[in-house]
Amino acid sequence: MTVVAGDPRQRTGRSRPATPPTRLPFRIGGLGAALPAARLTNADLARQVDTNDAWIVERTGIRERRVVGPGQATSDLAEAAAREALADARVGPEAIDSLVVTTCTPDQPLPSTAAFVARSLGVRCAAVDLVAACAGWVYGLVTAAGLLASGVNTTTLLIGAEVLTQWMDPGDRATLPLFGDGAAAAVLTAGDGPAADVPAGPGLVAWDLGIDAEGCDLLTVPAGGSRLPASADTLATGGHYMKMQGREVFRRAVRAVEASCSSVLRQAGVRASDVALFVPHQANARIVDAIVPRLGLTPEQTVVNIELYGNTSAASIPLALCEATAAGRLADGDLVLLAGFGAGMTWGTALMRWGYSGSGPSSPRSLPA
Ligand code: ACO
Repeated sequence: MTVVAGDPRQRTGRSRPATPPTRLPFRIGGLGAALPAARLTNADLARQVDTNDAWIVERTGIRERRVVGPGQATSDLAEAAAREALADARVGPEAIDSLVVTTCTPDQPLPSTAAFVARSLGVRCAAVDLVAACAGWVYGLVTAAGLLASGVNTTTLLIGAEVLTQWMDPGDRATLPLFGDGAAAAVLTAGDGPAADVPAGPGLVAWDLGIDAEGCDLLTVPAGGSRLPASADTLATGGHYMKMQGREVFRRAVRAVEASCSSVLRQAGVRASDVALFVPHQANARIVDAIVPRLGLTPEQTVVNIELYGNTSAASIPLALCEATAAGRLADGDLVLLAGFGAGMTWGTALMRWGYSGSGPSSPRSLPA
């Protein structure tokens, strides 16, 4: 194989990836992330509930997570991440013609979190929330790619943002250590032409979105909606807090992510070794450890940053992508496998051919309370 000067394969040392056709072309114009400044360590948690650092690290891989301060909301993190992504893409908010916020922890039931972000950014374009829990960003990516490829939009700002810590039962040691707050965003721009003209250009190669709805009661916030409206009783019984049957969620996550990733690789006709980077949702390091060998991937191909942030749901995949890009782990033309899984039980897997034209994302912006 001839490697030409400036070829990204010189940097990564990887062999030429398989060249399945790109079906939904788009490019990542810029990436950005924002995190609350406050860190909550396992030792801090052990002062709140009956737990300890060793249990949390062994069962989850998490050492600390970020936590919003009083009055900080999902849209504040989303706006900060969006501004970072726009700066990275060297465009202003007026360049966006659609804004999608993927979140399961909105600022409030009405209006959408996207409405608050649109107001802060000063945009009047299409703006909508998309709810698919931890699979949300991949659902958003496939949706946005479809709209870009069909000509409905030319520039989409796709944000994953969560303030999960406000939905935790302060006395529930089984959920409290798992979740953290954060946001990350990408500016997505329409591809250079129809997929038929640029068959190996950047964009989505294959994807698989689905739901194992038999498990929709395994991870819920039961009160505060039309079935169980907020009342003094729901407040007293903690119905507004997240409830999770962790062991069963774990089992289904491993099964669904393995099946979905295998199906996407099969659709694309590529081997696990052709994947430059695997970016799984960061729910639990043990879930990632179980999935990686089953798919024939290696830890070197996999991004894991759960140690520092915990599970940030819809924000976790774009946050990991931002960090991997900043660390120089991705080059144009690489095949990147993204896999999310969450409440519902939703899953979303996408294989994309990387094409990034940002100036290089900076470290996640830190937001003081
Ligand atoms: N510290 C110490 N002990 C604890 C803690 C804690 N924080 N939490 C639970 N335990 C105890 C339990 O009480 C239990 O004790 P017992 O044996 O005396 O009854 C023991 O530890 C084992 O509890 P399990 O719940 O069976 O522990 P498990 O090994 O399943 O780990 C965990 C729990 C970490 C929650 C795991 O099940 C998990 O990660 N599940 C997946 C969660 C997930 O991925 N969610 C993704 C979707 S998130 C979204 O969509 C928003």
